[in-house]
Amino acid sequence: MYAVKTGSIRFPEFSGVRCLMMPYIQGDPDSVPETYAPYKEIIESVYLKKGDVGFLTIDESPVIAGTSHRGHLAKHGRALHTEVGWRKENGFLQWAWGQGPEVKVDHDVQVLLANNLNNSCALWNAEHPDTSFDGDIGHLAELYPYSDAIFMRAGEVYRIGVLTPHESMPVMHNFNRQFLRIVSSGVHGREEYFTLNPLFSVN
Ligand SMILES: [Fe+2]
Repeated sequence: MYAVKTGSIRFPEFSGVRCLMMPYIQGDPDSVPETYAPYKEIIESVYLKKGDVGFLTIDESPVIAGTSHRGHLAKHGRALHTEVGWRKENGFLQWAWGQGPEVKVDHDVQVLLANNLNNSCALWNAEHPDTSFDGDIGHLAELYPYSDAIFMRAGEVYRIGVLTPHESMPVMHNFNRQFLRIVSSGVHGREEYFTLNPLFSVN
């Protein structure tokens, strides 16, 4: 199973808070700055392995009708992707959409996803090892029809792998979307855009 529902959460009130791949200790809200206090209970109760290093993304931002919240880098229409790109020449996986220095990702890294809008994220219970350089597989969309997809409901938490195809879906109406992602340990290095955590550093 590459896409498994593990539970559900209740998102806090929307406040526009954001962090991207910020390192912290899974299950430990004290390892996360006060800015993210509304997520304290979620941080405490949602994790892959409590006590391990993890990488936290909270993205609360408005989405315009007809566009997708997390798909602005997609090159082929549908924002269908894997969380990693594959460096075929070197045989390693790299954090997807990477622009800067190579951030290697172990094959067994797992990811928890949740959001607050029904049907705004689609998952396929599959693995796509032959992924692209940056993880964008929108050009292979015919392999992943919506009839085979799991459409996440608001508050549901799913666990996927770094090679599990998933898609940020266009929204039907303007919406303040809340997105939560927890990535397990096994991410080596950092992209420029990863949020620094003054309370915790992996380097
Ligand atoms: Fe993704």
